[in-house]
Amino acid sequence: MIDLRSDTVTQPTEPMRKAMAAAEVGDDVFRGDPTVRELEETVADLLGKEDAVYVPTGTMSNQIALRTHTQPGDIVLAGTDAHIDSHEIGAANALAGLTIHQLDGGHGTFEAHHVAAAIPDPPESMPPHLFQPVTLIACENTHNGAGGIVWPLERLNGVAAAARAAGAATHMDGARLWNATAASGVSEAEFAAGFDTTSVCFSKGLGAPVGSALVGSADLIGQARRFKQMYGGGFRQAGVIAAGALYALENNRERLVEDHANATRLAAGLAEMPGISLEAGLVETNIVYFDVAPTKAADFCAALHDAGVAMLPLGANRVRAVTHLEISSRDIDKALAAISTVLHQ
Ligand SMILES: Cc1ncc(COP(=O)(O)O)c(C=O)c1O
Repeated sequence: MIDLRSDTVTQPTEPMRKAMAAAEVGDDVFRGDPTVRELEETVADLLGKEDAVYVPTGTMSNQIALRTHTQPGDIVLAGTDAHIDSHEIGAANALAGLTIHQLDGGHGTFEAHHVAAAIPDPPESMPPHLFQPVTLIACENTHNGAGGIVWPLERLNGVAAAARAAGAATHMDGARLWNATAASGVSEAEFAAGFDTTSVCFSKGLGAPVGSALVGSADLIGQARRFKQMYGGGFRQAGVIAAGALYALENNRERLVEDHANATRLAAGLAEMPGISLEAGLVETNIVYFDVAPTKAADFCAALHDAGVAMLPLGANRVRAVTHLEISSRDIDKALAAISTVLHQ
Protein backbone atom coordinates (compact mmCIF):
# COMPACT_ATOMS: atom_id res chain seq x y z
CA MET A 1 0.00 0.00 0.00
CA ILE A 2 1.27 3.47 -0.90
CA ASP A 3 -0.16 5.27 2.10
CA LEU A 4 -0.61 8.98 1.44
CA ARG A 5 -3.36 9.61 4.01
CA SER A 6 -1.08 11.47 6.41
CA ASP A 7 2.53 11.99 7.43
CA THR A 8 1.59 10.41 10.76
CA VAL A 9 1.39 6.87 9.33
CA THR A 10 5.14 6.22 9.33
CA GLN A 11 6.71 3.33 11.25
CA PRO A 12 9.79 3.91 13.42
CA THR A 13 12.87 2.79 11.50
CA GLU A 14 15.31 0.17 12.82
CA PRO A 15 17.92 2.70 14.04
CA MET A 16 15.15 4.78 15.66
CA ARG A 17 13.86 1.65 17.44
CA LYS A 18 17.42 0.89 18.62
CA ALA A 19 17.75 4.42 20.03
CA MET A 20 14.39 4.00 21.78
CA ALA A 21 15.32 0.60 23.22
CA ALA A 22 18.59 2.00 24.59
CA ALA A 23 17.03 5.12 26.17
CA GLU A 24 17.87 5.94 29.76
CA VAL A 25 14.56 6.54 31.53
CA GLY A 26 13.03 7.75 34.80
CA ASP A 27 9.74 9.06 36.14
CA ASP A 28 8.94 12.15 34.07
CA VAL A 29 6.19 13.34 36.42
CA PHE A 30 9.02 13.88 38.95
CA ARG A 31 11.11 15.40 36.11
CA GLY A 32 13.35 12.39 36.54
CA ASP A 33 13.56 11.14 32.96
CA PRO A 34 16.95 12.17 31.52
CA THR A 35 15.97 11.47 27.91
CA VAL A 36 12.80 13.59 28.16
CA ARG A 37 14.88 16.38 29.71
CA GLU A 38 17.44 16.13 26.91
CA LEU A 39 14.66 16.33 24.33
CA GLU A 40 13.10 19.35 26.04
CA GLU A 41 16.45 21.16 26.21
CA THR A 42 17.27 20.33 22.60
CA VAL A 43 13.92 21.62 21.32
CA ALA A 44 14.03 24.76 23.45
CA ASP A 45 17.53 25.55 22.10
CA LEU A 46 16.48 24.86 18.53
CA LEU A 47 13.56 27.26 18.81
CA GLY A 48 15.53 29.88 20.75
CA LYS A 49 13.35 29.69 23.88
CA GLU A 50 14.07 29.09 27.57
CA ASP A 51 12.15 25.89 28.13
CA ALA A 52 10.01 23.18 26.54
CA VAL A 53 7.59 20.55 27.80
CA TYR A 54 7.25 17.17 26.06
CA VAL A 55 3.62 16.03 25.71
CA PRO A 56 1.85 13.06 24.07
CA THR A 57 0.14 14.91 21.19
CA GLY A 58 -0.02 18.12 19.19
CA THR A 59 -3.59 18.58 20.36
CA MET A 60 -2.53 18.49 24.01
CA SER A 61 0.36 20.86 23.29
CA ASN A 62 -1.97 23.40 21.64
CA GLN A 63 -4.65 23.03 24.28
CA ILE A 64 -2.34 23.49 27.26
CA ALA A 65 -0.97 26.58 25.48
CA LEU A 66 -4.49 27.98 25.06
CA ARG A 67 -5.27 27.25 28.72
CA THR A 68 -1.98 28.83 29.84
CA HIS A 69 -2.53 32.10 27.94
CA THR A 70 -6.24 32.71 28.60
CA GLN A 71 -9.15 32.77 31.04
CA PRO A 72 -12.56 31.18 30.41
CA GLY A 73 -14.73 33.62 28.43
CA ASP A 74 -11.81 35.06 26.42
CA ILE A 75 -11.62 35.28 22.63
CA VAL A 76 -8.78 33.74 20.62
CA LEU A 77 -8.11 34.90 17.04
CA ALA A 78 -6.88 32.26 14.59
CA GLY A 79 -6.79 31.65 10.82
CA THR A 80 -9.50 30.00 8.74
CA ASP A 81 -9.83 26.27 9.45
CA ALA A 82 -7.29 26.50 12.29
CA HIS A 83 -6.50 23.11 13.77
CA ILE A 84 -6.92 24.46 17.33
CA ASP A 85 -10.51 25.33 16.47
CA SER A 86 -11.83 23.14 13.67
CA HIS A 87 -9.97 19.88 14.35
CA GLU A 88 -9.50 19.53 18.11
CA ILE A 89 -13.00 18.25 18.91
CA GLY A 90 -14.17 21.45 20.57
CA ALA A 91 -11.40 21.25 23.21
CA ALA A 92 -10.75 25.01 23.33
CA ASN A 93 -14.38 25.55 24.20
CA ALA A 94 -14.88 22.47 26.39
CA LEU A 95 -11.63 22.62 28.37
CA ALA A 96 -10.69 26.31 28.40
CA GLY A 97 -14.08 28.03 27.90
CA LEU A 98 -12.81 29.95 24.89
CA THR A 99 -14.50 31.48 21.87
CA ILE A 100 -12.37 31.31 18.73
CA HIS A 101 -12.87 33.81 15.92
CA GLN A 102 -11.38 32.77 12.60
CA LEU A 103 -9.73 35.51 10.52
CA ASP A 104 -9.67 35.05 6.75
CA GLY A 105 -6.65 36.59 5.08
CA GLY A 106 -6.35 33.77 2.52
CA HIS A 107 -4.84 30.27 2.78
CA GLY A 108 -5.16 30.08 6.55
CA THR A 109 -3.09 33.20 7.12
CA PHE A 110 -4.08 36.75 8.03
CA GLU A 111 -2.45 40.12 8.51
CA ALA A 112 -1.89 42.69 11.22
CA HIS A 113 -4.89 44.74 10.03
CA HIS A 114 -7.22 41.73 10.46
CA VAL A 115 -6.05 41.47 14.08
CA ALA A 116 -6.54 45.19 14.72
CA ALA A 117 -10.05 45.08 13.19
CA ALA A 118 -11.05 42.09 15.32
CA ILE A 119 -10.09 43.63 18.68
CA PRO A 120 -13.12 45.16 20.40
CA ASP A 121 -12.92 48.94 20.63
CA PRO A 122 -15.56 49.91 23.20
CA PRO A 123 -16.88 53.47 22.87
CA GLU A 124 -16.37 55.58 25.99
CA SER A 125 -20.08 55.43 26.72
CA MET A 126 -19.88 51.64 27.16
CA PRO A 127 -18.16 49.98 30.14
CA PRO A 128 -15.27 47.79 28.85
CA HIS A 129 -16.35 44.86 31.00
CA LEU A 130 -19.32 44.36 28.65
CA PHE A 131 -16.89 43.21 25.95
CA GLN A 132 -15.28 39.78 25.62
CA PRO A 133 -11.51 40.36 25.66
CA VAL A 134 -9.21 39.08 22.91
CA THR A 135 -6.26 37.66 24.85
CA LEU A 136 -4.52 35.36 22.38
CA ILE A 137 -3.62 35.31 18.67
CA ALA A 138 -2.77 31.90 17.19
CA CYS A 139 -1.07 31.18 13.85
CA GLU A 140 -0.66 27.74 12.23
CA ASN A 141 2.61 27.23 10.33
CA THR A 142 2.51 25.33 8.05
CA HIS A 143 -1.25 25.54 7.72
CA ASN A 144 -2.65 22.04 7.34
CA GLY A 145 -6.19 22.87 6.14
CA ALA A 146 -4.89 25.34 3.56
CA GLY A 147 -2.55 22.71 2.07
CA GLY A 148 0.69 23.00 4.03
CA ILE A 149 1.08 26.72 3.35
CA VAL A 150 4.11 28.45 4.88
CA TRP A 151 3.49 31.81 6.53
CA PRO A 152 5.69 34.54 5.02
CA LEU A 153 7.93 35.67 7.93
CA GLU A 154 7.03 39.34 7.49
CA ARG A 155 3.31 38.61 7.74
CA LEU A 156 3.85 36.42 10.79
CA ASN A 157 5.93 39.08 12.53
CA GLY A 158 3.36 41.74 11.61
CA VAL A 159 0.62 39.69 13.26
CA ALA A 160 2.77 39.09 16.36
CA ALA A 161 3.48 42.83 16.63
CA ALA A 162 -0.23 43.65 16.26
CA ALA A 163 -1.00 41.13 19.03
CA ARG A 164 1.58 42.70 21.34
CA ALA A 165 0.20 46.18 20.59
CA ALA A 166 -3.24 44.92 21.63
CA GLY A 167 -1.86 43.33 24.80
CA ALA A 168 -2.65 39.82 23.56
CA ALA A 169 -0.40 36.77 23.85
CA THR A 170 0.78 34.78 20.81
CA HIS A 171 0.88 31.06 20.10
CA MET A 172 2.08 29.27 16.98
CA ASP A 173 0.77 25.80 16.11
CA GLY A 174 3.97 24.59 14.44
CA ALA A 175 2.98 20.94 14.13
CA ARG A 176 4.84 21.11 10.80
CA LEU A 177 7.19 24.01 11.55
CA TRP A 178 10.05 21.74 10.41
CA ASN A 179 8.43 21.67 6.95
CA ALA A 180 8.07 25.47 6.96
CA THR A 181 11.80 25.76 7.66
CA ALA A 182 12.79 23.18 5.05
CA ALA A 183 10.66 24.95 2.43
CA SER A 184 11.62 28.54 3.20
CA GLY A 185 15.13 28.49 4.68
CA VAL A 186 13.79 30.56 7.60
CA SER A 187 14.95 28.82 10.78
CA GLU A 188 12.52 27.46 13.35
CA ALA A 189 13.90 30.00 15.85
CA GLU A 190 13.27 32.91 13.45
CA PHE A 191 9.68 31.77 12.92
CA ALA A 192 9.17 31.37 16.68
CA ALA A 193 10.89 34.61 17.73
CA GLY A 194 7.75 36.78 17.82
CA PHE A 195 5.64 34.14 19.61
CA ASP A 196 5.23 33.53 23.32
CA THR A 197 4.71 29.80 22.78
CA THR A 198 5.16 27.44 19.84
CA SER A 199 4.01 23.85 19.55
CA VAL A 200 5.99 21.39 17.43
CA CYS A 201 5.27 17.72 16.59
CA PHE A 202 7.76 14.87 16.24
CA SER A 203 5.16 12.36 15.04
CA LYS A 204 4.41 13.92 11.65
CA GLY A 205 7.05 14.56 8.95
CA LEU A 206 9.89 13.72 11.34
CA GLY A 207 8.66 10.14 11.64
CA ALA A 208 8.77 9.60 15.42
CA PRO A 209 6.00 7.39 16.82
CA VAL A 210 4.78 9.73 19.58
CA GLY A 211 4.99 13.23 20.88
CA SER A 212 4.98 16.99 20.59
CA ALA A 213 6.56 19.80 22.58
CA LEU A 214 5.44 23.24 23.69
CA VAL A 215 8.24 25.81 23.92
CA GLY A 216 8.34 29.26 25.48
CA SER A 217 9.67 31.19 28.47
CA ALA A 218 10.49 29.29 31.67
CA ASP A 219 7.54 30.97 33.34
CA LEU A 220 4.97 30.03 30.65
CA ILE A 221 6.24 26.47 30.32
CA GLY A 222 6.14 26.13 34.11
CA GLN A 223 2.43 27.02 33.99
CA ALA A 224 1.91 24.73 30.98
CA ARG A 225 3.36 21.78 32.97
CA ARG A 226 0.52 22.21 35.44
CA PHE A 227 -2.10 22.01 32.66
CA LYS A 228 -0.29 19.04 31.06
CA GLN A 229 -0.77 17.22 34.36
CA MET A 230 -4.38 18.44 34.68
CA TYR A 231 -5.23 17.19 31.17
CA GLY A 232 -3.85 13.74 32.00
CA GLY A 233 -0.57 14.10 30.14
CA GLY A 234 1.76 13.27 33.02
CA PHE A 235 3.61 10.29 31.64
CA ARG A 236 6.26 8.27 33.44
CA GLN A 237 9.19 6.50 31.68
CA ALA A 238 8.53 8.54 28.54
CA GLY A 239 12.23 8.54 27.65
CA VAL A 240 11.49 5.47 25.51
CA ILE A 241 9.41 7.60 23.15
CA ALA A 242 11.41 10.80 23.67
CA ALA A 243 14.44 8.94 22.30
CA GLY A 244 12.51 8.39 19.05
CA ALA A 245 11.77 12.11 18.91
CA LEU A 246 15.44 12.98 19.54
CA TYR A 247 16.50 10.57 16.82
CA ALA A 248 13.95 12.13 14.46
CA LEU A 249 15.15 15.66 15.22
CA GLU A 250 18.76 14.73 14.56
CA ASN A 251 18.21 12.63 11.44
CA ASN A 252 14.98 13.50 9.67
CA ARG A 253 14.73 17.28 9.40
CA GLU A 254 16.99 17.86 6.44
CA ARG A 255 15.33 15.22 4.28
CA LEU A 256 11.92 16.97 4.43
CA VAL A 257 12.79 18.71 1.15
CA GLU A 258 12.42 15.28 -0.50
CA ASP A 259 8.82 15.07 0.75
CA HIS A 260 8.18 18.54 -0.66
CA ALA A 261 9.62 17.56 -4.05
CA ASN A 262 7.40 14.46 -4.06
CA ALA A 263 4.30 16.52 -3.21
CA THR A 264 5.13 18.93 -6.04
CA ARG A 265 5.59 15.95 -8.41
CA LEU A 266 2.21 14.57 -7.36
CA ALA A 267 0.49 17.95 -7.79
CA ALA A 268 2.04 18.47 -11.23
CA GLY A 269 0.82 15.02 -12.35
CA LEU A 270 -2.66 15.59 -10.93
CA ALA A 271 -2.93 18.99 -12.61
CA GLU A 272 -2.63 17.26 -16.00
CA MET A 273 -5.53 14.89 -15.35
CA PRO A 274 -9.03 15.64 -16.61
CA GLY A 275 -11.57 15.34 -13.80
CA ILE A 276 -9.17 16.64 -11.15
CA SER A 277 -8.93 20.23 -10.03
CA LEU A 278 -6.22 21.71 -7.88
CA GLU A 279 -4.01 24.75 -7.64
CA ALA A 280 -0.66 23.02 -8.18
CA GLY A 281 1.20 26.29 -7.48
CA LEU A 282 -0.18 26.27 -3.96
CA VAL A 283 1.77 23.16 -2.98
CA GLU A 284 4.66 24.49 -0.91
CA THR A 285 5.41 21.59 1.41
CA ASN A 286 4.13 18.00 1.81
CA ILE A 287 0.33 18.37 1.63
CA VAL A 288 -1.75 18.19 -1.56
CA TYR A 289 -5.50 18.83 -1.66
CA PHE A 290 -7.51 18.26 -4.82
CA ASP A 291 -11.12 17.95 -5.93
CA VAL A 292 -12.56 15.01 -7.85
CA ALA A 293 -15.94 16.57 -8.67
CA PRO A 294 -18.33 15.22 -9.81
CA THR A 295 -17.05 11.92 -8.32
CA LYS A 296 -17.57 11.55 -4.58
CA ALA A 297 -14.25 11.71 -2.72
CA ALA A 298 -15.19 8.65 -0.64
CA ASP A 299 -15.91 6.56 -3.78
CA PHE A 300 -12.71 7.78 -5.45
CA CYS A 301 -10.61 6.89 -2.38
CA ALA A 302 -12.26 3.46 -2.05
CA ALA A 303 -11.44 2.62 -5.69
CA LEU A 304 -7.92 3.99 -5.26
CA HIS A 305 -7.45 1.86 -2.14
CA ASP A 306 -8.31 -1.23 -4.18
CA ALA A 307 -5.58 -0.14 -6.60
CA GLY A 308 -3.02 0.01 -3.73
CA VAL A 309 -3.00 3.72 -2.90
CA ALA A 310 -4.51 5.24 0.24
CA MET A 311 -5.63 8.88 0.35
CA LEU A 312 -8.00 10.69 2.69
CA PRO A 313 -11.48 11.79 1.56
CA LEU A 314 -12.28 15.12 3.21
CA GLY A 315 -15.67 16.53 2.37
CA ALA A 316 -17.87 15.66 -0.60
CA ASN A 317 -15.30 15.96 -3.39
CA ARG A 318 -12.08 16.88 -1.58
CA VAL A 319 -9.14 14.50 -1.26
CA ARG A 320 -5.92 14.92 0.73
CA ALA A 321 -2.56 13.33 0.00
CA VAL A 322 0.46 13.84 2.24
CA THR A 323 4.02 12.78 1.44
CA HIS A 324 6.41 11.47 4.10
CA LEU A 325 9.58 9.51 4.68
CA GLU A 326 8.16 6.19 3.48
CA ILE A 327 7.17 7.65 0.09
CA SER A 328 9.64 7.72 -2.82
CA SER A 329 9.35 9.48 -6.17
CA ARG A 330 8.64 6.03 -7.72
CA ASP A 331 5.70 5.67 -5.34
CA ILE A 332 4.37 9.01 -6.59
CA ASP A 333 4.59 7.81 -10.20
CA LYS A 334 2.79 4.59 -9.23
CA ALA A 335 0.13 6.58 -7.37
CA LEU A 336 -0.41 8.82 -10.41
CA ALA A 337 -0.81 5.76 -12.66
CA ALA A 338 -3.35 4.27 -10.22
CA ILE A 339 -5.31 7.54 -10.12
CA SER A 340 -5.39 7.69 -13.90
CA THR A 341 -6.74 4.11 -14.02
CA VAL A 342 -9.41 4.85 -11.39
CA LEU A 343 -10.54 7.98 -13.25
CA HIS A 344 -10.95 5.99 -16.45
CA GLN A 345 -12.99 3.19 -14.81
C1 LIG B 1 -1.60 21.74 12.28
C2 LIG B 1 -1.85 20.66 13.28
N1 LIG B 1 -1.84 20.97 14.57
C3 LIG B 1 -2.04 20.03 15.53
C4 LIG B 1 -2.26 18.72 15.19
C5 LIG B 1 -2.57 17.73 16.29
O1 LIG B 1 -1.58 16.77 16.43
P1 LIG B 1 -1.95 15.37 17.15
O2 LIG B 1 -2.57 14.52 16.11
O3 LIG B 1 -0.60 14.87 17.61
O4 LIG B 1 -2.86 15.66 18.28
C6 LIG B 1 -2.28 18.35 13.84
C7 LIG B 1 -2.51 16.94 13.47
O5 LIG B 1 -2.55 16.58 12.32
C8 LIG B 1 -2.07 19.34 12.86
O6 LIG B 1 -2.09 19.05 11.56
